[in-house]
Amino acid sequence: MTLKYINAVISDVSNDNSLPVLDGNLGPSAVDIQTLYSRHSLLAFDPGFRSTASCKSAITFVDGDNGVLLYRGYPIEELADSSNFIEVAYLLMRGELPDAKSLKEFQDLLHQHNLLHEQIMTFYRGFRRDAHPMAIMVGVVGALSAFYHDVMDISDADSRYLAAVRLIGKMPMIAAASYTYSIGRPQRYPNNKLDYASNFLQMMFGSPVMEYTVDPVLARAFDVILILHADHEQNASTSTVRLAASSGANPFACIAAGIASLWGPAHGGANEAVLKMLNDIGTVENIPKAVTRAKDKNDSFRLMGFGHRIYKNFDPRSRVIQEQAKKVLAHLGKDDPMLEIAIRLEEIAIKDEYFIERKLYPNVDFYSGIMLRAMGFPVNMFTAVFALARTAGWVSHWLELQEESHGIDRPRQLYVGKPLRHYPAKK
Ligand code: CMC
Repeated sequence: MTLKYINAVISDVSNDNSLPVLDGNLGPSAVDIQTLYSRHSLLAFDPGFRSTASCKSAITFVDGDNGVLLYRGYPIEELADSSNFIEVAYLLMRGELPDAKSLKEFQDLLHQHNLLHEQIMTFYRGFRRDAHPMAIMVGVVGALSAFYHDVMDISDADSRYLAAVRLIGKMPMIAAASYTYSIGRPQRYPNNKLDYASNFLQMMFGSPVMEYTVDPVLARAFDVILILHADHEQNASTSTVRLAASSGANPFACIAAGIASLWGPAHGGANEAVLKMLNDIGTVENIPKAVTRAKDKNDSFRLMGFGHRIYKNFDPRSRVIQEQAKKVLAHLGKDDPMLEIAIRLEEIAIKDEYFIERKLYPNVDFYSGIMLRAMGFPVNMFTAVFALARTAGWVSHWLELQEESHGIDRPRQLYVGKPLRHYPAKK
């Protein structure tokens, strides 16, 4: 591979007014390079999308330098404080907060679509009983496309909206069943007298033989977790959903693709990895050793729950979640040594030159696992909870893409393989 510099390759790119600079409403401007190849026979190379805006979007804005996150213009802190997940899901999908009547209609619609077809329940039985809930979720959500493919017309706005509602409505039962199946407990059905968070908690923790009373403090804390994870602009899983959707694929299959992408430890799987890391650290005395390992380039160990591709400042969600984690632990009268280790680890890391220089701060996953664990969630359900929340964001991006489709997404590549060569002649 040869290395040249842009002005040595073409001198007129910088003066080319076919490459306009586009201004968004907030955030950096973007050079529109759509005609770069046709006019200059050049491709842009940006494999990790560090400098590439893959689409226009009006849903969520992140200012990573200043630690700002807005859903449709509303700061995440205000939504976490005053809103609820259903209202936020409506906001993400529709662009505006609902009035009381629209909220009630939306809630009723979700209730109407929160049950899984009984045949879907037979899918669960095909999984090993110790299957990871995310593996089950990928399979079951993908399988929903087999149930709603023929009735789905993605060229019709009402049909698209119904698919989005079905996904948000059914996801709590899908996620809860991924857990109850693994412990061999019969799955409970949704209860339409309950709100979204409470309903998930009763399906997750309730048993068919005992009344389950939802603790309103835990339900509210869980609702905040859902709000905080609902969307985060063009992250890996959302981009996966968009890429899959750009071919016109079935929405349930597209969301299954998003779940697969979310699962990795660099993305949604990080909350699970944080708990494992805190557990391995074990005591406050071992923190300096862990920090030293995280800084060692010859060691693959990283501080899980630290760093973010976009946030070069505190992730605003981590502040809210730290507060919630403390509230939940106090409410439950639990004194989790993990919380102490996490707080001390954060204090030590954010004062360390390595982390300061690289602008590595705690992200949303750093405290969410502690809180979920205190609420009784097994570690392997943490990412499933993330998927439950992020469904609101995924379907919003799916809806947005369908409205403004620019055709199929088809990245190019910088080919570094063999040049043309010929199959050896047979002797
Ligand atoms: N611990 C130690 N060093 C780190 C860490 C970390 N957690 N994160 C980044 N670095 C270092 C990295 O080694 C590199 O150092 P150098 O410049 O000397 O080579 C520098 O910081 C820049 O890192 P990067 O890999 O270029 O950053 P990235 O934007 O590609 O990766 C990340 C972002 C989130 C994948 C990464 O910070 C990471 O692996 N963090 C731990 C996993 C995690 O918490 N993920 C959850 C992300 S938030 C939830 C979500 O969006 O899904």
